[in-house]
Amino acid sequence: MKILGIESSCDETAAAVVEDGRHVLSNVIATSLEEHKRYGGVVPEIASRRHAESISSVVTEALVQANCTVEDLDAITVTYAPGLIGSLLVGVNFAKGLALAAGKPLVPVHHLRGHIASNYIESDVEPPFLCLVVSGGHSHIVAVKSYTDIEIIGRTRDDAAGEALDKAGRAMGLAYPGGVSIDRLSPEGDENAYAFPHPRVSTSVYDYSFSGLKTKVINLLHNAEQKGEPVNTADLAASFQKAVVDCLLANLALAAKNFGYQKIVIAGGVSANTKLRREAQKMCHQHGWQLHIPQLQYCGDNAVMIAAQGYYEYKNGTVADERLNAYATMPIDHPTY
Ligand code: KG4
Ligand code: ZN
Repeated sequence: MKILGIESSCDETAAAVVEDGRHVLSNVIATSLEEHKRYGGVVPEIASRRHAESISSVVTEALVQANCTVEDLDAITVTYAPGLIGSLLVGVNFAKGLALAAGKPLVPVHHLRGHIASNYIESDVEPPFLCLVVSGGHSHIVAVKSYTDIEIIGRTRDDAAGEALDKAGRAMGLAYPGGVSIDRLSPEGDENAYAFPHPRVSTSVYDYSFSGLKTKVINLLHNAEQKGEPVNTADLAASFQKAVVDCLLANLALAAKNFGYQKIVIAGGVSANTKLRREAQKMCHQHGWQLHIPQLQYCGDNAVMIAAQGYYEYKNGTVADERLNAYATMPIDHPTY
């Protein structure tokens, strides 16, 4: 089954053709990241304008690279939630037009479910498993019981892990996205130079809270500036990164033990983080758990993962019509469309 995936939830305009949810026939990504850098974060208006400009050529290129036409497709899948609404709408409207014109099924895909599916690409990973989903907007621990049956076990009560890394990086004067800059700079620093607490959350032992850690970085920089004291940015970056990774993995390990999961999966933009990947490997090795992390090229936003999840959603009977809308927020466990 050949599926076209379209993704435009943030600053990447992406299209891909994937066979049977696993085999990549093409993968095209146009990003407006460089333009957002000067503003220190994604500017929604710029992102949606760039999506509108490039979506047609990105989809065409994906079909050309896959050596197929729209007629050869079995379904058209598109990210419809969650994300920047103006950005999502570009992909959703394009997918609707294409599906209607070609008479193909239109399958809405939840962006975070797509991130989880990045682990299926060119691999034999199958549910059930426990998954840590860490992106710029979300941090969840979910039980993936089947490809389409997902239960939330823990979630962040405030900032997402990626968001905290980005904001802390920005406070340190590092380039956007801060998560990537902190990852790059950390090997030059001492990760034990600054102590960070492990925040406890009253709602659940599996929930996260990152805004306190982020505020600690901002206050520390502020105080040092007022006193005229120098701050070793590499030390601070490494210590902060260690704190975030320790928190992420502590709750994940607890959930794995308590719910009896031996297969652990990590997904989302932050799964590209070198320290997270290394520490997760150590942790799973110690406990004898299987670990799956996407290939680096599929950690960030892409359309291959949307086509991969779309394949399983379609097999499960998820098909939308021309009334499909985009949504800025949408739960991962019971998405509606
Ligand atoms: O999944 P993603 O590409 O977009 C969203 O769905 O949000 O995630 C973007 C997030 C950003 O916060 C970015 O800083 C973070 O992923 N990120 C990283 C790394 N690469 C991307 N964080 C830490 N280390 C990295 N290597
Ligand atoms: Zn994403």
